[in-house]
Amino acid sequence: MSYRIVNKKPLNSFVTMMDIEAPLVAKKAQPGQFIILRVDDDGERIPLTVAGYDREAGTVRIIFQIVGATTAALNRKNSGDFISDFVGPLGNATDLEGRKKVCIVGGGVGCAIALPVAQKLHEMGCEVHSIIGFRNRELVILEKEFSEASAKLTLMTDDGSAGRKGLVTEPLKEALESRENYDEVIAIGPLVMMKFVVATTRPFGVKTTVSMNPIMIDGTGMCGGCRLTVGGKTKFACVDGPDFDGFEVDFEEAMNRSNIYSDFERHAYEKDCNLFRKEVE
Ligand SMILES: Cc1cc2nc3c(=O)[nH]c(=O)nc-3n(C[C@H](O)[C@H](O)[C@H](O)COP(=O)(O)OP(=O)(O)OC[C@H]3O[C@@H](n4cnc5c(N)ncnc54)[C@H](O)[C@@H]3O)c2cc1C
Ligand code: FES
Repeated sequence: MSYRIVNKKPLNSFVTMMDIEAPLVAKKAQPGQFIILRVDDDGERIPLTVAGYDREAGTVRIIFQIVGATTAALNRKNSGDFISDFVGPLGNATDLEGRKKVCIVGGGVGCAIALPVAQKLHEMGCEVHSIIGFRNRELVILEKEFSEASAKLTLMTDDGSAGRKGLVTEPLKEALESRENYDEVIAIGPLVMMKFVVATTRPFGVKTTVSMNPIMIDGTGMCGGCRLTVGGKTKFACVDGPDFDGFEVDFEEAMNRSNIYSDFERHAYEKDCNLFRKEVE
């Protein structure tokens, strides 16, 4: 079976949004869940979060950063083209019931994963405060969408070229110090960002949920590729997560494991990437 790309839109030079025709996935998908796709029949399987869905149109939105061979191959496809596999929804939906005031912290492409959570909370009548961070102005995505879903939005860049200069943890700490009584902080972004968000919220004792994105292979709890340690116990991000209690996650182990395949992935990208081939010829 193949799946049609009905819409493609670059959000910046490194991040692309696509709507994929996949009615069965669109029917059931919830914020926090993910899909696994293959671009071509001989391609590798990669997980991407459901960034949105239109149940009536039967489409599912994905937003991906072009980081390696498979995301580059996906980005070469255009509206009207097909991809081989699109399996999901997988993982557990983010638990949002009963929340009255939540702070969403998104970093980089993690903002694509955080947006549907912010939108759903907003729809449910929750007061959403969003803090989104990027390296610089060129990388900012989804600012308008976050502002529509948030009672308060703080945009941060590392170099101050858009919004406020600094890291997302700075306005978060200020909000906690000024006694914003959040029911929960939900952090989605690079591992190091989530680790420091947890270090910021821990002294205040505010429930903090993080979305863990380790290497996934089957996405069904069979291969063990996505294992991590949470509260001293082994968990599989694909079936037990991707959301976990941030205070319980062993971030050091997760960061070490995330580097295991980097050499292999770099070779796969260099083999596939015309720009690199031209450079070395
Ligand atoms: C549950 C989940 C949801 C995700 N959602 C998104 C999303 O919405 N948008 C987005 O841009 N990225 C998301 N990712 C990361 C995305 O899967 C990787 O960027 C992608 O697999 C990279 O593949 P590649 O071949 O282009 O790059 P590669 O060169 O193969 O890898 C580059 C980096 O991507 C990560 N990665 C590679 N393969 C996998 C894999 N099978 N599973 C997980 N991570 C991998 C590793 O950190 C690796 O160092 C998600 C990952 C998980 C586990
Ligand atoms: S991806 Fe295989 S166990 Fe989670």
